[in-house]
Amino acid sequence: MRKSRIGILTSGGDCAGLNPAIKWAVKTALDERLEWDIQYEVLGIRDGFKGLLHADLINQDIEGHIIHLDQETVRTWDRIGGTFLGTSRLSPYDPKSDCSKEVVKNIERLGLNALIVIGGDGSLAIASRLADDGVNVIGIPKTIDKDLPETDYTLGFDTALNVITEEVDRLRTTAGSHKRIFVVETMGRTAGWLALEGGEACGAFIILIPEHAFSMEKVNELVLEGRRAGSRYEIIIAAEGAKLEGGSEFVKREGSDSFGHKALGGIADFVAAEINKGTGLETRGLVLSHLQRGGAPSAHDRRMGRHFGIAAMNLIAKKDFGKMVAYQNGHITACPLKDIFGKLKLVDVNIQYDAERYNGRRNVLGI
Ligand code: F6P
Repeated sequence: MRKSRIGILTSGGDCAGLNPAIKWAVKTALDERLEWDIQYEVLGIRDGFKGLLHADLINQDIEGHIIHLDQETVRTWDRIGGTFLGTSRLSPYDPKSDCSKEVVKNIERLGLNALIVIGGDGSLAIASRLADDGVNVIGIPKTIDKDLPETDYTLGFDTALNVITEEVDRLRTTAGSHKRIFVVETMGRTAGWLALEGGEACGAFIILIPEHAFSMEKVNELVLEGRRAGSRYEIIIAAEGAKLEGGSEFVKREGSDSFGHKALGGIADFVAAEINKGTGLETRGLVLSHLQRGGAPSAHDRRMGRHFGIAAMNLIAKKDFGKMVAYQNGHITACPLKDIFGKLKLVDVNIQYDAERYNGRRNVLGI
């Protein structure tokens, strides 16, 4: 029987749902009942593309960079968050230190017939470029930002939404006791999905998203209106990428990482201070930060990780490379990696946001 060696790696920010996807890709590849006409072997690559760069295959030194994955190793992985393979934000195509030739060489030296890349926009752009450079790649979409085009779901999003909802539930009791306002900063980069859907799930009073610039006058007006109507406290969700009218994103640090991403942050404290100043109401900022990426995968992320992992192996078996597995209109499917390259899916303010209330829409049927 012919043999085929597959590599699998996770790249970019971690999130819940990665381990289930790895587990099910491995289990599908090694499932004896599936009667593949090829015998698969699966190698886990540690720390994203770093593992592929640093494994010294000339001297056969792969220790710490490559591990053999079998069914027993991955058996319990689907209930655990993060990634057992580790991850990094190393881009082989970083213009400041391009190492793509070395990475492609190492993929050849490792004898990988296919590579599964589980990643967000930055990592899947790398996957697309590797496909152009002749590597047989399959992408699996993951990111709590849910900003990838051609798919209605990206792994990690649902777990992050649950974190936001649970943390805000906790915040409510203390906010109410003290008649305080809390501005909760969520992740999501330039996309408002996490803030909008998290805010809708937890019933936030105001939701600020990157796709609609906000004014502090309007925020203060809404807050005072709420107080006049008898509310004791308010929860405001602010996406880290939201901007003031005529302003730009709040950044924690200047510069960008290997994927070209800025380090966003600071909006919660800014908005809290401005509400304090503008209304006299006691307001605090709270940054949920990496709590949103942590913890056990929700049931949805376990199932979606499972389906995406299986679909990746199905594509490999069909030799249908250069694709990203996707979820569209309730079905698992796939699209060319090229179709997502350099694109982001953002909130459509006209359809999904109420720009008057700075909140989710009250008319969801669109009639
Ligand atoms: O893209 C995922 C994400 O969690 C963003 O929402 C956030 O801006 C960023 O990663 C944070 O990255 P880091 O883990 O490098 O702080």
